[in-house]
Amino acid sequence: MLSAPLGPGAELCPLEPWQADELAAFTDRAREHLTPWLPWAHDVKDTASARAFLQRYADRQAADTGRIYGIRLDGELVGGMIYRIFSVPQGSCELGAWLAPGAQGRGLVTRAAGAMIDWAIGARGLARVEWLVSPLNAPSIAVARRLGMTCEGTMRSVFAMGGTRHDLQVWALLADEWHKENAPHPHG
Ligand SMILES: CC(C)(COP(=O)(O)OP(=O)(O)OC[C@H]1O[C@@H](n2cnc3c(N)ncnc32)[C@H](O)[C@@H]1OP(=O)(O)O)[C@@H](O)C(=O)NCCC(=O)NCCS
Repeated sequence: MLSAPLGPGAELCPLEPWQADELAAFTDRAREHLTPWLPWAHDVKDTASARAFLQRYADRQAADTGRIYGIRLDGELVGGMIYRIFSVPQGSCELGAWLAPGAQGRGLVTRAAGAMIDWAIGARGLARVEWLVSPLNAPSIAVARRLGMTCEGTMRSVFAMGGTRHDLQVWALLADEWHKENAPHPHG
């Protein structure tokens, strides 16, 4: 299982169904910050719904079709990362990410995404890593840019959330564009 240091006191680590209480509490605290961008933050409302969300990813991990991780700062759950899609047959995956407002601005997600790209391309031999983001989500677009991804276009009105339809930009990185030596380093 992937785990990685993300700098002093910070790590990317497993997040499993038994930790549903912690995810539910995190989501309650960060809900306002997450719901404009993340469909799952609308659905995770208590321990039972958090456990169902984590179980979906545990099942995907067992099937090798998706994975979820926590981001911890001094032991506290401050964010998370997903391979929302992970397809060995297609040779591609899609990453997702979130942080509590107070954990932003330190490079945690850029470094976590770097570790996940390394694993997907280096360890698993995937050819393509995607990052789907609302054109209105400037901090998330900045992550895709920092990772060296290319914006390939915009899917218009592609999904519904919170009673509105949303566009999504497709950012992607191909295996031969991933230069590990340029990847954000855990220590800055
Ligand atoms: C999207 C989101 C994860 C980005 O968080 P973030 O903190 O900006 O991203 P990172 O953890 O990569 O940190 C980058 C920031 O830390 C700074 N930073 C500090 N040290 C750094 C380092 N060593 N390496 C990289 N960046 C560093 C960067 O300059 C940048 O700050 P800036 O935007 O003010 O220039 C966050 O805004 C979020 O959770 N939003 C709500 C949920 C969401 O939108 N998820 C994505 C859906 S597509």
